[in-house]
Amino acid sequence: MQGLRDDVYRRPLATALERLGVGASWTCADIGAGGGDVSVALAEVVGRSGRVYSVDSDPAARDEVARAAAAHSQVVAITQAGEDLRLPEQVDLVFCRFLLLHVLDPSVVLDRMAAAARIGGWVVAQEPITTSGRVGGLPLSMPDARHPDVGALLPALVRDAGLTVVDAWAEAPAGIGPGPVATYLASLTGVDPDDDPIVLPPLVTVVATRPGS
Ligand SMILES: C[S@@+](CC[C@H](N)C(=O)[O-])C[C@H]1O[C@@H](n2cnc3c(N)ncnc32)[C@H](O)[C@@H]1O
Repeated sequence: MQGLRDDVYRRPLATALERLGVGASWTCADIGAGGGDVSVALAEVVGRSGRVYSVDSDPAARDEVARAAAAHSQVVAITQAGEDLRLPEQVDLVFCRFLLLHVLDPSVVLDRMAAAARIGGWVVAQEPITTSGRVGGLPLSMPDARHPDVGALLPALVRDAGLTVVDAWAEAPAGIGPGPVATYLASLTGVDPDDDPIVLPPLVTVVATRPGS
């Protein structure tokens, strides 16, 4: 599932990293890192002179990240809730993807993410609008998530965390017939789309900077 998500949602991640111009020696934090797909992608860009703090509240994620990032000594896995985020240093980029839909209060986590960025540094959030996904033209739903449509509020939530929004957009993988999009949908919802057209939940990306005080 983790690798599959990285496969179908790899384009929004690539778009965001390109938009930022992330490069060698950047220091980054990936909050709610899960199995570490984003952390590894960041590690590949920042290289050995950079650093990636891979943070998740689930201790099992640390082992998964350690396996996924075995070849990248610049990845440091930390077990910590986003609500309690406290890193050893302020970083150039604080990133989250598919995190805020699960947390109790997205604003609390975004406040901590903002504080973890250096002045002038970046905060990037990528969160879905689950009910805007479609199968055969009908809306999807993800009742297990606390905030399934948090993506629709994301620009306001980021601004309310005291950050300056510099860009925002939405991207959705789509497809028909067998392939990664259909397999991902089936794993997410248990629904077999058969030959129905699919639009997966759009991922809203918000790119923001931390202003000076
Ligand atoms: C759907 S996964 C997303 C993983 C990864 N960001 C990605 O896009 O592939 C959500 C992750 O957030 C973590 N998580 C949930 N609530 C959290 C919290 N309050 N603080 C930190 N991590 C949290 C979960 O343990 C899980 O690994």
